[in-house]
Amino acid sequence: MVKPDMTIELGPLRLKNPILTASGTFGYGLEFLPYFDLSRLGGLCTKGLSPRPRLGNPPARIVETPSGMLNTIGLQNIGVDTFLSDRLPKLREYDLEIIANVFGETEAEYIEVCRKLSKAEGVAAIELNVSCPNVEEGGMIFGNDPAALQQVTRACREACDLPLIVKLSPNVTDIRVTAEAAVAGGADILSLINTYVGMAIDIERRKPVLTKISGGLSGPAIRPLAVWLTWQVAQTVDVPIIGMGGITDERDAMEFFLAGASAVQVGTSNFVHPDAAVRVVDGLERFLADRNIPSVQSIVGRLEVPR
Ligand SMILES: Cc1cc2nc3c(=O)[nH]c(=O)nc-3n(C[C@H](O)[C@H](O)[C@H](O)COP(=O)(O)O)c2cc1C
Repeated sequence: MVKPDMTIELGPLRLKNPILTASGTFGYGLEFLPYFDLSRLGGLCTKGLSPRPRLGNPPARIVETPSGMLNTIGLQNIGVDTFLSDRLPKLREYDLEIIANVFGETEAEYIEVCRKLSKAEGVAAIELNVSCPNVEEGGMIFGNDPAALQQVTRACREACDLPLIVKLSPNVTDIRVTAEAAVAGGADILSLINTYVGMAIDIERRKPVLTKISGGLSGPAIRPLAVWLTWQVAQTVDVPIIGMGGITDERDAMEFFLAGASAVQVGTSNFVHPDAAVRVVDGLERFLADRNIPSVQSIVGRLEVPR
């Protein structure tokens, strides 16, 4: 049995394997050291970093749903400066790509965080979160308006030299329009999808379960929706795609690769099994080897569609 080549090129970003962890579901990575060696992953995406620390939304901000969860964390994070001084030096000891997920309430805030990260040693790429449904300022406002999305992408492109990933929202009428806007603004890579807006109701109290009424739905429940959007975006733009949404094992990941994603992120599954992402790495390697598929790269976009 030949060992498959797990390396993948995403434009300017090279990964030793195509499995990353998704922003907000893997802390700053270090929290997972008791469970596995981070160097087994292709990379990790940090919790969304803003110029200053944020407390996020008040509880209740998580609800379990059938096959997933609703969250309204509200971008709680330690702020970019603490990340750079306290977390990044420790993360750099591991052999994986560190992708900084970035969030701002204004364009100026996005630029500020991008500039700081760009100067830091050990950040491989920036992922712009323009698609968070759980905050009042910024977030989806940028991601849902193609002109604003193109503008914020261009501003961040000019503010940093790192590969730029733009993370798209599924909460739009036609994701191909926002995908094209992000590419026109200078995105090197697109990642998708962020969470879907949803709500849960406490029928005894007759109140929304979440303090902020709605939240972002993630987990296996959204996987078919995410695969569909990945395939649509792959048909539309020429930049590499990172797919995500409800991936729990290698078979889920394979759907995204065939649909056109060059890499995938594992999110909500980390809450179920802290080593979920590394299980996908091992499972994928076995899946390819069992079928004599020489490399991950060779299956990207290889969906056969009836004509
Ligand atoms: C608790 C939680 C927090 C999240 N925080 C962020 C965030 O800070 N930035 C971001 O871009 N996406 C964030 N996301 C979205 C995930 O990165 C991912 O796009 C989404 O959950 C879909 O993947 P999954 O179904 O595998 O979880 C968060 C998701 C969850 C569940």
